[in-house]
Amino acid sequence: MKASLLLCVIATVYLASAVPIKEEELGVYPRFVTFPDGEGLPHVADLQAEPDHALLEEIHRDPANNLYLLFTRNNPTQAQTLIINNSESILNSNFNPEDNTIVVVHGWLGGQDAGINPTIRDAYLGKGSANVIVLDWRRLALSNYVTAVIGVPDIGVGLGQFVRFLISVTGIPYESIHLAGFSLGAHIVGNAGRELEGRVARVTGLDPAGPLWIYNDNKITENDGVYVEAIHTNGGVDGLGIGDIVANVDFFPNGGRSQPGCLTFLCDHDRSWELFGASVTYNHLTGTECESSWQVTFNSCSGAPFPLGNDDLNKTGSGFYRVNTGRRYPF
Ligand SMILES: *[C@@H]1O[C@H](CO)[C@@H](O)[C@H](O)[C@H]1NC(C)=O
Ligand SMILES: *[C@@H]1O[C@H](CO)[C@@H](O)[C@H](O)[C@H]1NC(C)=O
Repeated sequence: MKASLLLCVIATVYLASAVPIKEEELGVYPRFVTFPDGEGLPHVADLQAEPDHALLEEIHRDPANNLYLLFTRNNPTQAQTLIINNSESILNSNFNPEDNTIVVVHGWLGGQDAGINPTIRDAYLGKGSANVIVLDWRRLALSNYVTAVIGVPDIGVGLGQFVRFLISVTGIPYESIHLAGFSLGAHIVGNAGRELEGRVARVTGLDPAGPLWIYNDNKITENDGVYVEAIHTNGGVDGLGIGDIVANVDFFPNGGRSQPGCLTFLCDHDRSWELFGASVTYNHLTGTECESSWQVTFNSCSGAPFPLGNDDLNKTGSGFYRVNTGRRYPF
């Protein structure tokens, strides 16, 4: 009796801070799914692992407590750390309010050294001047997959609060801001965009994670920014991406499940940010609008052309597109 009362209290405290995984998510994927870490190495996620409640409580109390690392053409490889509620950290940095700002968010088991970060950073800084901010959320990202999934909305809210602070200090317009995230990071930028009332110019989901997200109310949506784009490279129930329409514009490169030149799911999944990085540099990948998932799969789309990715902050559109790419950079 006493024990069950205690359990009940614990459950209530926990529910107050985070939305647990819905029952129906567990039937979609096998229990064990292999994801790439920041370096592309395989790690098994147990979709029925016990969440780390203490860590989730801590993240919920202090969602902004992640690292925000600024890179510009004046410091292309040495980060400057920006700190929420510390205006000096921004005013004394190389942040240039005249330039556009891109925030890059890694996935599960990543950190500031995750492969996505230098790829997208170098693509932007190679193109022109920009404020590239890398969000390092490794404190949660290094926990088990279930814990990371449950904590994603809090990290997203924290990013939203940080961007709001950045705006208040620098006066930059929402029109100059682009949030781009990979895998779990795609759902983080969705939640950040929602915290900012869908006002940022662009939100990009790079193969938004599928496991535990199919029925998840906190997944990335088309309302999270003025223009929301998703690039699906490893969809399907045997893939790591959600593989379904979530944005204003959804791209399905090479059908959206497996990618040319890739032998593993890990490579297919990571290809989403490689394609995005290449598109920032060359703006060379053009999709064709489709009318059905059959057309996507069988490469028979014949609608209007539309560019994948790129760095255009005025981009706007709708629909879903197949794009065929090469096997090697720049694809
Ligand atoms: C930053 O300041 C705001 C407003 O004063 C406050 O609500 C918020 O909790 C602060 N965040 C952090 C991480 O200190
Ligand atoms: C985007 O829109 C802004 C303001 O509406 C304008 O100043 C800028 O030239 C546009 N950029 C492109 C690439 O069209």
